[in-house]
Amino acid sequence: MSGLSAAATRLLLFAAGPALRSDFRILKMVSTSMASRTIKDPKNSKPEKSRPRSEELFERGKKTLVGGVNSPVRAFRAVGGTPLVIDHAKGARLFDVDGHEYIDFVCSWGALILGHAHPDIVSAISDQASRGTSFGMTSPLEIELGEKIAGAIPSVEMVRFVNSGTEAAMSAVRLARAFTERDLIIKFEGCYHGHSDGFLSEAGSGLATLGISASPGVPNAFASLTLNSPYNDLEAIENLFKQHPGEMAAVIVEPVAANMGVVPPAPGFLEGLRAITKKEKALLIFDEVITGFRLAYGGAQSVYKIDPDLTVMGKIIGGGLPVAAYGGRRNIMERVAPLGPVYQAGTLSGNPLAMRAGLATLPKLEAPGFYEGVNRKTQRLADGLRIALKDANVQGHVNVAGSLLTIFFADQPVRNYADAKKSDSARFAVFFQEMLSRGIFIAPSQYEALFVSAAHTDADIDRAVAAARESIAYMQGN
Ligand SMILES: Cc1ncc(COP(=O)(O)O)c(C=O)c1O
Repeated sequence: MSGLSAAATRLLLFAAGPALRSDFRILKMVSTSMASRTIKDPKNSKPEKSRPRSEELFERGKKTLVGGVNSPVRAFRAVGGTPLVIDHAKGARLFDVDGHEYIDFVCSWGALILGHAHPDIVSAISDQASRGTSFGMTSPLEIELGEKIAGAIPSVEMVRFVNSGTEAAMSAVRLARAFTERDLIIKFEGCYHGHSDGFLSEAGSGLATLGISASPGVPNAFASLTLNSPYNDLEAIENLFKQHPGEMAAVIVEPVAANMGVVPPAPGFLEGLRAITKKEKALLIFDEVITGFRLAYGGAQSVYKIDPDLTVMGKIIGGGLPVAAYGGRRNIMERVAPLGPVYQAGTLSGNPLAMRAGLATLPKLEAPGFYEGVNRKTQRLADGLRIALKDANVQGHVNVAGSLLTIFFADQPVRNYADAKKSDSARFAVFFQEMLSRGIFIAPSQYEALFVSAAHTDADIDRAVAAARESIAYMQGN
């Protein structure tokens, strides 16, 4: 689709329906049917930014990189058009190879809560690079970052650093299985915990059914050890425990879901999960890869005052470098090698560059007022978007949690994945393209969060709101 103009792409997305909108994550299928609606005249659209160099590079990249990318969502399959090809980034801004500037609300999928190329992080990484980029042995930096994390999150008494959220979630589940000597886990529809085999499972024909493989290459035998349950539904969880007494190793949950778009937990949901897992002697795993150090310094668990048994972290703790971690109660973590028999290892784990970036990031988040600042700007954005929807008489719901936000083009409030899937993803695709042509980059999927960073100014937020007003007006043909 890269040869088409943005306006033509928008028209095509409207007209062609779901076939052209295959989503990037298997677990986040776009199933919205095309609502009948008037197709707007693209002449009112903001003119496309000409991006010849991006197009050329993307075409070249496609010859050797699968789909021209190294992670599917970057390919813009859900929204159409040529993906961004970035030259550099600074603060809240991305600059593409064609010299265009974008206010970035993706922030490396939430990793960059301080914005791009923060000077203190840059100098920490540069200093470390000259002292060695990987030792293959322990350094004081790992101990220091481990202590910092344990100090921030009381439920994390011991921690193990790894290199990606996928690895951390996979390892936490292995540990939970070993600790409980049980095999089944429960995850929630629409939550994402990385792409390890056990998580590429989807709900079968009913709640009683064990998961089935959601990707070729994942044996059903693996997928069937994962049960899928609707988010914010405690009754469904109780039923699953009743159907599989004594078999459940763990329940893993994003305490604020952010991979079906942002969906906060209903009052009592997390408390209920804690109570059920405790009663049934299963572990409760919070996947705080997104929410950790984002909703608050102590993560979502400090906001909702729940102590999970294990916590999975990533993104912010590495200050934009590849690092993640899992941690939790000492008596559980002591089962991991070398203290215990649960094997898990990594050549680059605890990498000194990544540790320095994390150590340069976390103290800044402890500064008084840090979270109030990012949350206030997010609220300003949410308020502006809600007014824009209302003024243009467009159906939509804006879900917010801390500095996470999603604008759902849905008629009804979104409380779970089934609700999220009712959103009009074709409409979202048009909104995305209109925003992009106005210099605002939001995640290229209806089922993602927008991330606000400390680098965004009120003026950036106001520019984004003004762009949203124009984009939504265009969608309505005004
Ligand atoms: C909640 C959650 N868990 C796990 C992961 C996987 O992390 P990674 O992409 O670093 O493998 C993600 C990625 O976005 C995530 O959002």
